[in-house]
This record gives sequence, structure tokens and C-alpha cells, in this order.
Amino acid sequence: MAEKSVLDTGFNVSKIRKEFPILSEKAYGKPLIYFDNAASSQKPQVVIDALSDYYQHYNANIHRGVHFLSKKASDAFDEVRNKVQKFINAESANEIIFLRGTTEAVNLVASTYGRKNVHAGDEILISAMEHHSNIVPWQLLCEEKGAKLKVIPMNEQGELNLAQLDELITSRTKIVSVVHTSNSLGTINPVKKIIEAAHKKNVPVFVDGAQAIVHSKIDVQNLDCDFFAFSSHKMLGPTGSGCLYGKMELLEAMPPYMGGGEMIHSVSFEKTTFNEVPYKFEAGTPNIADVIAMGVAIDYLDTIDRDAALAYEQELLKYATDQLKSIPGLKIIGNAINKASLVSFVLEEINALDAGMYLDTKGIAVRTGHHCTEPVMDRFNIPGTIRASFMFYNTKEEIDVLVEEVKKAIGFLKPQKV
Ligand SMILES: Cc1ncc(COP(=O)(O)O)c(C=O)c1O
Repeated sequence: MAEKSVLDTGFNVSKIRKEFPILSEKAYGKPLIYFDNAASSQKPQVVIDALSDYYQHYNANIHRGVHFLSKKASDAFDEVRNKVQKFINAESANEIIFLRGTTEAVNLVASTYGRKNVHAGDEILISAMEHHSNIVPWQLLCEEKGAKLKVIPMNEQGELNLAQLDELITSRTKIVSVVHTSNSLGTINPVKKIIEAAHKKNVPVFVDGAQAIVHSKIDVQNLDCDFFAFSSHKMLGPTGSGCLYGKMELLEAMPPYMGGGEMIHSVSFEKTTFNEVPYKFEAGTPNIADVIAMGVAIDYLDTIDRDAALAYEQELLKYATDQLKSIPGLKIIGNAINKASLVSFVLEEINALDAGMYLDTKGIAVRTGHHCTEPVMDRFNIPGTIRASFMFYNTKEEIDVLVEEVKKAIGFLKPQKV
């Protein structure tokens, strides 16, 4: 496939692609075209190397060992907290809690902050475009406490309708939890505006940053969010690691999440006292290798020109949108003005799964279905979409192949009129 080294934005995609070994793989003998980045991103060689480097050279449990390997592993692990702090501009590294990812972060806040502060008759406000992981933990909490889950509606474009936001945040609202960037529509929400509205009524805001972390530059102090969560595997890092950011005074007031080693200060059969934040929320041996490699993913992102990468992704989005929407029978779901680099679409009379399976035979990895956002599908009255989600290592030439194959898929899969 022809690949220009420098595209219109001046972003050197050829150089970047060489750093991601998987991008030279073949699928069924065809060049792999990876458009499933919203589900999980690919990893640069430095991240892959960091994992084997840890296991080959300094694998040991951290924080409790006095020996060389344990100290080396502890230092590498602890350093990642500083990297994350700088990456999202938190005030303190101690406001960063290492977890498995976004899902665990929502569950942590729902089970600790939520259990302590939400009572019968209270309200939790989320939005109409949440991932299931930012719905179900709150729903479970509401059921347990007799509280009510309320939803910010969205319009036909896939944008949140904030006209009634002030009425939706009431004196009973205990937390607002919203997605920064939708994984099924691509919409980038005006979270800062939502946070300002909530703070006027002293309501804290949790931001699901799973998609935003790599497709926007995040500054938690500027957003003034109270919690922010992300997963490393969506930002070039490994699976099994991720972060919850929380404002220190909130984290300090929250009860612990899981009990076990590391999160304690002292234990006796009569009474246990707890460690300070963030260790209070990090029970047990953490995912050492994957946290260290997450730090390397951050280092990698710091080495590239993020502004150019984001501008390039916007160019891919525009290019794909223009090409795809010109195909008869194709409808794009989610046309927000402010959008991250993904296109969700449906094909008239063609099942999304069938189309996805057809594209797979051509080496194109897209995702089909509800993308863990069933209420979004219900809103648009569709069972699912075909989603092509781009990263700055994708190319316009790959989009050309997608467009051609979608046209062929329509010819191949559309029921024939007799
Ligand atoms: C917007 C959004 N929130 C939350 C999640 C859950 O992330 P994880 O499965 O890494 O915990 C995802 C994953 O697709 C997502 O896209």
C-alpha cells in the first residue's frame, strides 16, 4: 500500500508506523488495517520491550523488599505516578491511583464515595452516551441505596442537550459522571461546562476519560474535574493497568475500596488503620510490569508532537467522513461538531456484523455491535453500528481501502430485489 511519508498536517506517519511492529502484520495474507483503536490501541516497540525488560532484568515484588531487584522495581513503579501526574497535570502524584483501568475506577468511586455519600432519595446524574462501565456501577449503587439515576439527554447529532442541565442537577444530586469522549459516536463533550454547572451546586464530577486520554490533551486542573479515569491499553500501553485521578481532599475522605496488603497502616484483630492516599486504594500486589510499561507509553507520547498527531487524526476523521458519507445507503451515526477520530455507521438493509465479517476477510479490523453503549443504540433505534476508529498511525490510504471494501460489501451483502 502506498504510504506518503508526510501528510498535509506535516505529521510523519511513516516514521511513526515503523515503531509499531504489529502494523506490518498481515491478516489472511493482506496488509492489516487496524481500525479498532477505540477498543484497544496498538503498542510501540518501546512499550513491548519495557515488559520483557522488567521480567528479564528486575522482576520482584515492590515496596516491601530491601534487596536490589525490589528497590529497582519499586523505583520504576513509583516513578510512573510522577509521569501520570505530569501527563494529566494533576496537582500531586499522590492523587493518582493505579488500577486495572476505567471500569475499576468507576467501580471504586461508586463503592467508596458513592456508598458513603449517596442515600435513599438521592440522585446520580450521567449522560445518554455512557459506556456500560459508567452506567452499571451507578445503577447497582442506586439499587442498593434507593437512589435515582438521571440522564442528560442527547440530540440526533449525538451531542448532549445541556439546555436542562441546571434543572437536572438538583439539591439531591450527589455526583455527576460523564464521558469525555464517546466511544460509539466520537462526540467530545463540553465536560468543562458540565463541571462548572455541577460545581455551582457543590456536586463533584467524575469524568470517564477512556477515549479522551489519547485523543485530547488532558489537564485535570484546568477541567477542575473531581475524578478522572483512563485505561492504559487505549493509550498505547498494556492491558491491566490504568488510573483514577481524584482530588486529594475527596480521596482522603473516602473509605478504602478493597482490603489487603499495602493499603493498611497497622493491623490487629481488634482494629486496622489504613495507609495514606493513594496506597489506601491499592490493596495487594499491583500490576507492576503493566504500570511500568504504561509509564513508557506516556514517555512515548511525550516524544511525539501531540498537537500535530491530534491535527492529523482530525484530518483522517474528515477524510473518512467525506468518503464514507458519499456511499449510497450508508448513514453515519454521530455527527457532533466536536468529534474524535472515529466513524460509526450503518448500512441500509445490511447487518453490521455481516459487514464487519466481510471487512475482516479483507484484513480490515473494525468493530461492530453496540460498543458497550446499548442505550446509545436504543436512542438511534438501531441494533448496532460498524465503527472505524483511527489512531495517528493510520493513513488515508488505509481509509481508501476501507471505503472501497464497504462499497463492495454493499454489493455483496445487500438483499437482491426479485
Ligand atoms: C468511553 C469508555 N469508557 C469506559 C471504557 C472501559 O474501559 P476498560 O474496559 O479499559 O475498563 C471504555 C472501553 O471501551 C470506553 O470506551
